[in-house]
Amino acid sequence: MMTTVATSSIAMNDEIFRQLRDFIYEKTGIFVPDNKKYFLENRLSRIIKERNFRNYEDYLYFLKYNATKTDIAKLFDAITTNETFFFREPQQFEVFSNNLIPQIIKENAQMGRKDLKIWSAACSSGEEPYTIAMILLEKPELVSIRKEIYASDISESVLMSARRGIYGNYAVRNIPPAYIAKYFKDSGGLYNLSESVKSMVKFLNINLIDEKEVKQFKGIDVVFCRNVLIYFDDKAKKKVVSLIYDVLRPKGYLFVGTSESLHNITRAFRPVVINKVVVYQKL
Ligand SMILES: C[S@@+](CC[C@H](N)C(=O)[O-])C[C@H]1O[C@@H](n2cnc3c(N)ncnc32)[C@H](O)[C@@H]1O
Repeated sequence: MMTTVATSSIAMNDEIFRQLRDFIYEKTGIFVPDNKKYFLENRLSRIIKERNFRNYEDYLYFLKYNATKTDIAKLFDAITTNETFFFREPQQFEVFSNNLIPQIIKENAQMGRKDLKIWSAACSSGEEPYTIAMILLEKPELVSIRKEIYASDISESVLMSARRGIYGNYAVRNIPPAYIAKYFKDSGGLYNLSESVKSMVKFLNINLIDEKEVKQFKGIDVVFCRNVLIYFDDKAKKKVVSLIYDVLRPKGYLFVGTSESLHNITRAFRPVVINKVVVYQKL
């Protein structure tokens, strides 16, 4: 599959590569290193062909001076990597469910709060926030707690599939069979998520490096920001992590992907290790 894409992609010279790369970085925080020119060639060739741009120079000019919000959204759809599945990195969900939730409910009750606010900050097609929703639904002690789950992404096309809530075999392969039976309807090899889960999640288009967009949130108990910081350089990571810091409640928690770390990125969080899982706590 890689070969097909590579042979049909349009070559880019180094100068326009750097200009497009800088434009994308400025808009999204996604940093494409020098040795990944092929990545932009693969991802952007289709737009060049579909929209009949003469070359990448014309496309960049268009992006800078004439593009509508929809055109910029198409660029974001093209350059993001949206790999995800239900119950990805399950040890984190266990710690979330068994350790963090009871703790948070207790602390919130002491503050007179009867709610729980979770944000899945780069939710792709919805598997992560819906996993969180099913976990919360399975907890009888949360029946009288107001549960708010926000889920956001920069790519409008993944948000559309998230709202649809219909998944294939790959996405559901790690879901415990009892949850499949309870929360999905099997229709022609596809898995339709039940309304009881879908209605728990509010999806929004939020660009994580955009201060104004992120600042819509406040008092969040737990942020899941997993497998997205890897696409940013350190400067963008620092900005995103500091924006997340601001929307968390005091002592709130942040999960990053298991292959990611906040080492050298921030000192505003304390890494807490629970059952070998690292979770970052706002100081
Ligand atoms: C690999 S997926 C991770 C999905 C999920 N968190 C998981 O771990 O399975 C990364 C997601 O980050 C989103 N993303 C990339 N840059 C972003 C930005 N600046 N703001 C918001 N989302 C972004 C992409 O669109 C993509 O859906």
